[in-house]
This record gives sequence, C-alpha cells and structure tokens, in this order.
Amino acid sequence: MTARPVPAPPDLSPKNPDWWRQAVVYQVYPRSFGDADGDGLGDLKGITERLGHLAALGVDALWLSPFYPSELADGGYDVIDYRDVDPRLGTLDDFDAMAAEAHRLGLKVIVDVVPNHTSHLHVWFQEALAAGPGSPARDRYVFRDGRGAHGELPPTDWRSVFGGSAWRRVPDGQWYLHLFTPEQPDLNWDHDDVRADFRTTLRFWSDRGVDGFRVDVAHALVKDLADPLRDLGDPELSAETSLTDLPPGSHPFYDRDEVHEIYRDWRRVLDSYSPPRMAVAEAWVPNARRVRYARPDELGQAFNFEYLQTPWDADALRQVIAESLDAARAAGASATWVLSNHDVIRHASRLMLPPGTGTDDWLLSGGTRPPVDEAAGLRRARAATLLMLALPGSAYLYQSEELGLPEVADLPPEVLQDPVWEQTGHVQKGRDGCRVPLPWTSAGPSYGFGAAGSWLPQPGWFGRYAAQAQDGVAGSTLELYRTALRLRRKLTEGETLTWAADTPPAVLSFARTDGWRCVTNLSAAPVPLPPGEVLVTSGPLTDDGRLGPDTTAWLG
Ligand code: NOJ
Repeated sequence: MTARPVPAPPDLSPKNPDWWRQAVVYQVYPRSFGDADGDGLGDLKGITERLGHLAALGVDALWLSPFYPSELADGGYDVIDYRDVDPRLGTLDDFDAMAAEAHRLGLKVIVDVVPNHTSHLHVWFQEALAAGPGSPARDRYVFRDGRGAHGELPPTDWRSVFGGSAWRRVPDGQWYLHLFTPEQPDLNWDHDDVRADFRTTLRFWSDRGVDGFRVDVAHALVKDLADPLRDLGDPELSAETSLTDLPPGSHPFYDRDEVHEIYRDWRRVLDSYSPPRMAVAEAWVPNARRVRYARPDELGQAFNFEYLQTPWDADALRQVIAESLDAARAAGASATWVLSNHDVIRHASRLMLPPGTGTDDWLLSGGTRPPVDEAAGLRRARAATLLMLALPGSAYLYQSEELGLPEVADLPPEVLQDPVWEQTGHVQKGRDGCRVPLPWTSAGPSYGFGAAGSWLPQPGWFGRYAAQAQDGVAGSTLELYRTALRLRRKLTEGETLTWAADTPPAVLSFARTDGWRCVTNLSAAPVPLPPGEVLVTSGPLTDDGRLGPDTTAWLG
C-alpha cells in the first residue's frame, strides 16, 4: 500500500459554515472510551486524554453520545438534566476542558440532544407524578386515562420500540406514554414549555462552543394527540415496522409532517451562531422522507440507515448509494454514510452474516449460529469502510471500528445492561456487544481503558485488536484508516460521483473529482484493476496485481 504526500486539511476554521458537509465524524460512547478515574466507567477526562488518537486518525469531529446525568436505564438516553454532566463522568469544567482540547487539535465537537423523552427522574416528570391527573405539570408529558371498565387497559395498542406496551400505569390510575423504556416518558411537543426548554438547551451548549448536535429519534417528537387517541390496529405491529405500513405522514407518532416545524425553529436558533451550529437527525424512516429532516432550513443532515442496513451486495449497494445521493441533492442536503454505531452489530461481524440471518437469534447463540470467520469479517469490513470513505458526503465512524473490532457476541446474560434484554423477556440480547470498552493496550488492566475493570467484561481476544498493537504496523486496520483519511482530505471538493460503465458483475466502480476512482470487488474471484496509480487498498492485491474478493482500491 502506498500513500501520497499529506494534502491540506479541509477548512475547519470557524469561518467555514459548511465544514460538516464532507466531514468524517467519530462517535464516542463516553462510558466506554476512556476511564480516567478508575471506577470502571468511562468519563470526560478519559476522553480528553485520548483525543490525540482522534487527531492522529485524521477525523474532523467527534460526536459524544449522552454524558448528562442519567440513571442509565437506557445507556444515558434517559436524561435527568440536559444542561449538566453526570457526576460519574465529570463536571461542566471537564466538558469545557475536553472541548477546548478538541478545538486545539482541530476537532469539532458534536453533542447528543434527546428531545423525544426525558428520564422519569427529570424534575418535570417528578412534578407531573406529584401533581396528579389533569394538572398542568402532566401536560408536559402524554398522560391519559386507561380503557376498560376501571381504566385498567392501556389507552392504545401502541408498542414500545423495546417491546411490550408503550404505556405504563401510575398509582393514581392514569397511564403515560413511553416509546422506549418506562424510565423514558415521552414529552408532549405541543407544549410551549417543552419547545422553550430545548431552545435553551441548544443555546446552553452552543454558548459553550459546541459545534453541532445529533438529534435522537428526530422523527418521533410530534404525536397525533387528538382525542380519542388512535390505535394502530394491529397489536402485533412493533413501533418500528408500523411506520412503513401506513401512508407517509399518517402514523400517529412517527414521521408526522408537523415535526418539521420544530426543526425550522431550531435552525433559527442554530443559525444565530457564527458559524451556524450543524445538526444531524437520527430518523429511522425511508430515504425519501428522511432527507426532509436534512433540508437546509431544518437540521442539514440525517443519518443514512438504509445504507447501514444494505447487505454486502453490489447491486443493492449501487442502488442505495445512487438513491441516497439523489435524495440528498434534491433536498439540498449533503449525503451521510454510516456502517456502525452504538445501536447495531459492529460491521466487522454484521456484514458476514448470511442474508436473512436473524441478528437477535445470532446474538442469542453467542455468535455461533452461524459462526463468523474473523479474518473474512475483517477483510470485508475494511473493504466496506474504504468504499464508504470514498463516497461524497459525510461519514460517521463508531469508536474502535478503526481497530477492526468485531462484535462481542457472547456476553453472558448476567452482565447485560441494555434494557432490551429485560423488556423483550430475554428474546433479544440488545446492544451491549458493540458497547464493550475498547482496547487501547495489548495487555494490562481493562486493556488500557482504565486502571480497574470495565463496566462490561472485555473478552480475552481484545488485546489482539488493541490500538497499541496496530500503531505504526504496516497493513494494520488502524493504519489503513489513517491512510484513507489522509488521502480523503484532498477529495473534499464536489459532492458527486460518476459510475464506471464497464465494470464486471459484483464490482462497484466510480470516479470522484480529478479522475480519482474507487473500485470494490464483491465477487468471489479476483478482478483486474482499471488503469491508474494505486493509492491505497483495503487488502493485498493478488500476485498478478488484481483486486481480490472483498477488497477495495482507490486509484489516482
Ligand atoms: C436512539 C439511540 O441511539 C438509542 O441508543 C436509544 O436507545 C434510543 N434512541 C432512545 O433514546
């Protein structure tokens, strides 16, 4: 693998309002990144100490999953106070120090905002419980009387994303809505207090120098609360699958047209800063509807989960890439790409699962049915990453994918923390397998995560993937990411690609600016490379210079 001289970095100066359109953003899951105080839980100082890793990797920004005070009923997405730091993770001063160090290193900082629900320990919900039925305090959430002779049945058939009814009854007999865990009551976005408070939160973090926001469950905030509430009609429908079964905009709580007014309002707040703060929507809705969240007068970007869910298949990938670019262009947004995050099986394992594999069953089998060939998984993951990094738009990386880390699929039930495990009655293990604190060193306490253990057990094989074991090692996954990200910096002009006409079956080939080209071989046999200088490859070429199966090359 050969690398060209380091090109000039993209303009990340405060003057460039569009820095995010082609940025590479690195997701940090704060509790699993670095543990400075040795209590087994990652913290802000632990992140600050390791920011050099991100700068050396060559990413443009880091996005932190929630670090706010939380009971950890849902890994921090149950927020008790939106404008503070969980004492176990540090203080606001620690946050400021972390942001200052990131900025000194040329890294932008994006934080998570969780507007669909609070923690049940949030002061508003505690007030609502104490105030009783019909009180103004209850009106900030979605409280309703139950059905049945004594109100003993939930108000509707709506299901929680994590399983079971989306309603919980409180001692005075009323029910409240929770699309996620019962510890995450949904807010009522028709309420002025709710709208005003989130504007305050956006300003609070923007004033502290935060460069952008990732918006949790952006598509769920507005519900159709007209009385009586509507049933979905099919009790078997999960909250997620019901979306695609209904005409666009007609679902009682997902992807309603009224939600966009909230983001137009937020854009006005974000644009009052210089440069304007960026935002990216987490919205699990189909491409054509998803980009509406990314319109220039709304959030600007939305995660592309269709890409993440696309199997390792050339035709399917070509189609989703083309559709994603078209949809983003039509909306005036920049495209986004993501392969891994804290909610899905790491792509070094996921992309190897045969189409149709039930991922829940795979995790329940401890990753044994079917077994995943580790070396093949790594080869494919590297090819997928190099393909993703060649696409126009913004790429989101998840911590330690740069180490090629596979999923920890065999966590024993007794250590699982994800509420999904209990809420599904032990049918789904949940997302802990991608949240295990990452290995920095090949040996030693918690593989360099901290001085003590880690809140989820790390497997014995973790040391092989440690950053230390890969640093400076030619051909390592860490060095591949570094090389690719250095090269990518010269490609940040233009947001288009041109597909090559003459590709063999199961090969993806496209050109970016200046004739720069990416070729991925998804077939089972080596294929010849087009003419050009090989800049980087995800794996070795064959002896006769051809591109092997599950390999990507960039050519100049
Ligand atoms: C999406 C987050 O990514 C996920 O981790 C969380 O469980 C839900 N939203 C609820 O906040």
